Amino acid sequence: MSIKSLIRTIPDYPKTGIMFRDITTLFGDAEGLREVVDTLAGEFQGQKIDVIAGIEARGFIIGPAVALALGVGFIPIRKQGKLPAKTISVEYDLEYGSDIIEMHVDAVKPGQRVLILDDLIATGGTALAAIDLIEKAGAVPVSCAFIIDLPDIGGAARIRERGVPVFTLVEFEGD
Ligand code: PRP
Ligand code: MG
Repeated sequence: MSIKSLIRTIPDYPKTGIMFRDITTLFGDAEGLREVVDTLAGEFQGQKIDVIAGIEARGFIIGPAVALALGVGFIPIRKQGKLPAKTISVEYDLEYGSDIIEMHVDAVKPGQRVLILDDLIATGGTALAAIDLIEKAGAVPVSCAFIIDLPDIGGAARIRERGVPVFTLVEFEGD
């Protein structure tokens, strides 16, 4: 089974017209999970990553598994108000309105090389905010990686224009 075929698509969720790409079926499959972790770890093995930053919520599922495979630590980037210690934050635009993500101010050390991980990139707004957070902390966003890219929406291109490389495993186009 390919990684793509293990991702379940739910039409019209959470609202009409949206094709929801559900990774729970991929993570629930032992071989699929292994393939995702091995491919991501293999890609970044030689890139001197110091720490992985996972974006809430689905970046928390895949991030620690890849961190273990690379032998590095994992830090969470969370929605506002969830982290207990002193945080730094970045506001970003959504389709309607805006949201805020946060990271503990001491989660990364200045100069550390950080891999940002999430399940999916659409507009790239969330990942761009994560890049800003890492840079605000004085660390280096080496790359962003996602299981799923929706290239029609153009998020990966926006991240690359920002000067940060993007690695993705599966593309869903044209629907
Ligand atoms: C989804 C997805 C990414 C983000 C991508 O998360 O898991 O994190 O949207 O969208 P973007 O590229 O347009 O920013 P969501 O914000 O729905 O929250 P969740 O992961 O907590 O479910
Ligand atoms: Mg998310």
